[in-house]
Amino acid sequence: MAETLLPSSLRYARYTPTHEDSYVHSMRQLISKDLSEPYSIYVYRYFLYQWGDLCFMAFDNDPLDPDPDSARMVGVVVCKLEPHRGGPLRGYIAMLAVKEEYRGKGIATKLVRMAIDAMADRGADEIALETEITNTAAIKLYERLGFLRSKRLHRYYLNGNSAYRLLLYLKEGVGSIRSFDPYGPPTDQNPVSPPATSLLRENGE
Ligand SMILES: CC(C)(COP(=O)(O)OP(=O)(O)OC[C@H]1O[C@@H](n2cnc3c(N)ncnc32)[C@H](O)[C@@H]1OP(=O)(O)O)[C@@H](O)C(=O)NCCC(=O)NCCS
Repeated sequence: MAETLLPSSLRYARYTPTHEDSYVHSMRQLISKDLSEPYSIYVYRYFLYQWGDLCFMAFDNDPLDPDPDSARMVGVVVCKLEPHRGGPLRGYIAMLAVKEEYRGKGIATKLVRMAIDAMADRGADEIALETEITNTAAIKLYERLGFLRSKRLHRYYLNGNSAYRLLLYLKEGVGSIRSFDPYGPPTDQNPVSPPATSLLRENGE
C-alpha cells in the first residue's frame, strides 16, 4: 500500500483492492452520513474497479484496533478519469468526505491534493466536480486549490438543491473560463441543466 506517514497518528493511503470489502464498507459509512444522494454499492464498485488508483483514504491508526485499516478510516476521496465528449481528458471528483470529528485539520485538502496529483500524473487536462451551492466548506476548500466556478446547476440533486460545477484547469490552453455570474439568470454562457443526476451518468454539460 502506498502511504504517507505523518508525525501524528494520521496516515494516507491509495486504495488497493486487497481490502476491498472493509474499505468499501468504511467509505459507504463515511460518505452516506453526509452526502444528500445515497449511493448503492455498485456506484462504489464502478469507480473503484476502474479508477481505484485515483481513490485516497485517510486513517487514524489505532494500534489497539483489530482491523485498523477499515475501522479507523476518517476520510476518503473517490475519482474517475475519462475523455470529456471526445475532447480533454477530464478527471472527476465524485465523492469526498471527512469524519466529523476530524474536520478542520487539513485532511480533505491533503486527500484532494493527492487525487489531483494522481490525475495529473495520468495526463488529466482538467478536473471537474459538483458541490451543493450551500456547501461553504467544500467550496472554500476547492477554490483555495484553484478550482473555478463554471456553472450553476439548478435543482441538480435528488433533494432539490442546486449545485456549482467547479473546474480546475491543469494545462495551458485547455478549457475556456467563461464569464460566470452565480446570481444571474441562465444564459448561453451560464445555462441551467436538467434536474437530478446520477454519478453513473457522464458528467457532461
Ligand atoms: C468538506 C469537507 C470534506 C472538508 O473536510 P476538512 O478535512 O475539514 O477540510 P480541510 O481541513 O482540508 O479544510 C480546508 C479548507 O476548507 C474550508 N473549510 C473547512 N471546513 C469549513 C467550514 N466548516 N466552514 C467554512 N470553511 C471550511 C476552509 O477554507 C479550510 O481552510 P482553513 O483551515 O484555512 O480554514 C468536510 O467538511 C466534509 O466531509 N463534509 C461533508 C461531506 C462533503 O460536503 N463533501 C464535499 C462534497 S463536494
